[in-house]
Amino acid sequence: MTETSSSSPSRRSLIGWGGAGLALGAAAAGGAVAITDGGDDIEPTAAGTGAAVAFHGTNQAGIATPVQDRLHFATFDVTTDDRAEFVQLLKDWTAAARRMTAGKAVGDGAYGGLAEAPPDDTGEALGLKPSRLTLTVGFGPSLFGKFGLDGERPEALIDLPKFAGEALDAARSGGDLCVQACADDPQVAVHAIRNLARIGFGKVVIRWSQLGFGKTSSTTPDAQTPRNLMGFKDGTRNIAGTETDRLKKFVWVGQKDGPEWMVGGSYLVARRIRMHIEPWDRTSLQEQEDIFGRDKGEGAPVGKAKEHDAPFLKAMKPDAHVRLAHPDSNGGATILRRGYSFTDGTDGLGRLEAGLFFLAYQRDVREGFVRIQRHLATDALNEYIQHVGSALFAVPPGVRDKDDWWGRTLFSKEA
Ligand code: HEM
Repeated sequence: MTETSSSSPSRRSLIGWGGAGLALGAAAAGGAVAITDGGDDIEPTAAGTGAAVAFHGTNQAGIATPVQDRLHFATFDVTTDDRAEFVQLLKDWTAAARRMTAGKAVGDGAYGGLAEAPPDDTGEALGLKPSRLTLTVGFGPSLFGKFGLDGERPEALIDLPKFAGEALDAARSGGDLCVQACADDPQVAVHAIRNLARIGFGKVVIRWSQLGFGKTSSTTPDAQTPRNLMGFKDGTRNIAGTETDRLKKFVWVGQKDGPEWMVGGSYLVARRIRMHIEPWDRTSLQEQEDIFGRDKGEGAPVGKAKEHDAPFLKAMKPDAHVRLAHPDSNGGATILRRGYSFTDGTDGLGRLEAGLFFLAYQRDVREGFVRIQRHLATDALNEYIQHVGSALFAVPPGVRDKDDWWGRTLFSKEA
């Protein structure tokens, strides 16, 4: 396998850093850790450095690692019924992901190979930095009906129940597989999905995909909290990537949870939530703040002065979003939010087709998203939003080393 072009020094020189940091970081933390070229645990300002995030770890990167600025999320349906062929695809995807997250081109690169054959890599990320690219793979409920995997479907990988007010579009829902690509450079994220789709030609086909910008949650609470398209700080009370105990309690599947192949994994809920931006923009500031239970400027909970002051829920309106979503109102239910804003042009009636692409990770979706979303049935925010797409995935544990591959714990059992 040859290296990529010598005309991409910035990407290649960072690989050296990424490679060295990767080994150090993985050894130090025993899991997927983010690496800056200074070798420190990552700070969002590292976005500017274009650093690489370790691909190998106990858990997949892209969950507890710091949230990048951009998203390309894709779901795939499997078109092959040949299990060996599908397993080979997972191995090929892993090899490509290992290279792309380190800032390298896929396979033998984008040029310099056989003139008669298409190059291994599509080329648009040449010269770009790794940009903290993470690639996270998940398996949807429908995958388990294939390849004789019925018995391996986790109990927690339920068919999501219907929720009040949703209007789900089948063309933007479900999927046998998903790949979440996050990076600080949108071209790096799009390149990654495009190349995985290309490798999957004839075995999987993209079902739907979503581009996102402007992260709406952070896993680094010390950094400035991002704002969503409604103008409010979003992600103030989230699980931080450094909170090992809370991650263990609420995000990672444990030994006792089962099934065995999911230990170290998590469950991902993806919801495309449309925002009715125009009526929102005509809503008074007071009403907007009442709806969330936080003020717009500082992001402080009602009656408190600072964003990170503990919320006093009873001071909020009974239908305030934060009051209803808070763990104290949901028997302790806690999720790790990792969503992005989206704007897909206008809808034909001149309204902005925009909203929140909600992504949340949890140890058990029945105790996490389902519980909270049911409670949000009376949310005052519902007048301004609608869930229009939905999917749930079992996200397997991390790829441990260079010989490991995505999904090995599931597929190597009887293979
Ligand atoms: C477009 C839809 C949504 C918007 C604009 C939105 C916005 C917000 C904002 C501004 C906050 C306060 C800041 C923070 O702590 O993050 C918040 C908190 C929260 N939201 Fe949402 N949210 C949306 C949908 C959802 C959904 C679907 C869920 C889960 C089912 C959810 C769960 C939460 C949770 C758990 C909190 C933290 C509550 C706390 O601990 O204080 N949100 N949301």
